[in-house]
Amino acid sequence: MSEQIEMVKICKVIEEAESVRTFIFSHKMDFAPGQFIMVWIPRIDEKPFTVSYHTQEEFGITVFRLGEFTKRLYSMNVGDQIGVRGPYGNGFNVSGKACAIGGGVGMAAIVTLATERDDIVIVQGAKTAVSLLYRERFPNMVMFTDDGTEGRRGFPTDYLSQLQEKHKFEKIYTCGPEIMMKKVLDFCLSRGVQCEASLERYMKCGVGVCGQCVCDGFRVCTDGPVFSADVLSKINDFGRYSLSKSGKKVNV
Ligand SMILES: Cc1cc2nc3c(=O)[nH]c(=O)nc-3n(C[C@H](O)[C@H](O)[C@H](O)COP(=O)(O)OP(=O)(O)OC[C@H]3O[C@@H](n4cnc5c(N)ncnc54)[C@H](O)[C@@H]3O)c2cc1C
Ligand code: FES
Repeated sequence: MSEQIEMVKICKVIEEAESVRTFIFSHKMDFAPGQFIMVWIPRIDEKPFTVSYHTQEEFGITVFRLGEFTKRLYSMNVGDQIGVRGPYGNGFNVSGKACAIGGGVGMAAIVTLATERDDIVIVQGAKTAVSLLYRERFPNMVMFTDDGTEGRRGFPTDYLSQLQEKHKFEKIYTCGPEIMMKKVLDFCLSRGVQCEASLERYMKCGVGVCGQCVCDGFRVCTDGPVFSADVLSKINDFGRYSLSKSGKKVNV
């Protein structure tokens, strides 16, 4: 794929969880885990989505049904077409004994790391059992739910010390609610563990032109979406503010 929009046909739909579906496209794509694509639905809009599934022949995106765009995407079926351009942004730097912690649909960004490296420990936090993603794909995943309906009760960040004692990770990757990623970053900085987090900011162009995704001088679409601990610790807005669709600074 490239800068030009290409129309791709849905070849498979996977029910992942309540209000979450993965759409698979029979289309080759050069891709690094953590990168995203811009998805265009004619006459509706164009929005960023992480590539959550990738093989030599196929790629997929996981969609959480939220507003107008994702409702339309979520309701699509095998044979329907969307426009895509990309992939864009940098990816994760894969190295060392690692753990990948995802929360909510942020899981989509980290799961392709496990396609590259099958020794990565995948940790997922979700509100409740029916919200857990990719259970069949990763049967050994460590799961946490806020209400204790599956896996351990609580947030993955409550158990970071325990996980670190057990596995002695050299690196932790994370994507999900920013409050969770901030806690992961602070833990890693305090323990001397390497860390990379994938940020989500409102995006319009996806290629560094519009300025919509700026976060303390960094363009998340081109400088990110993955940032190292060194850079994150210099980004004051991380865990605090982002720009809304209209460009207003709002709390994350
Ligand atoms: C790099 C990146 C990767 C993403 N990957 C995924 C993914 O794999 N799966 C997924 O379900 N969602 C993903 N998102 C978020 C997704 O783009 C939006 O949630 C989605 O477009 C919501 O649009 P909507 O019209 O359904 O909802 P709306 O009601 O328009 O928006 C709901 C919320 O979604 C966010 N959002 C809306 N439009 C955008 C936009 N253009 N850019 C960024 N955030 C937006 C805002 O926080 C907004 O408050 C990603 C966002 C980014 C920046
Ligand atoms: S989305 Fe336009 S500069 Fe990043």
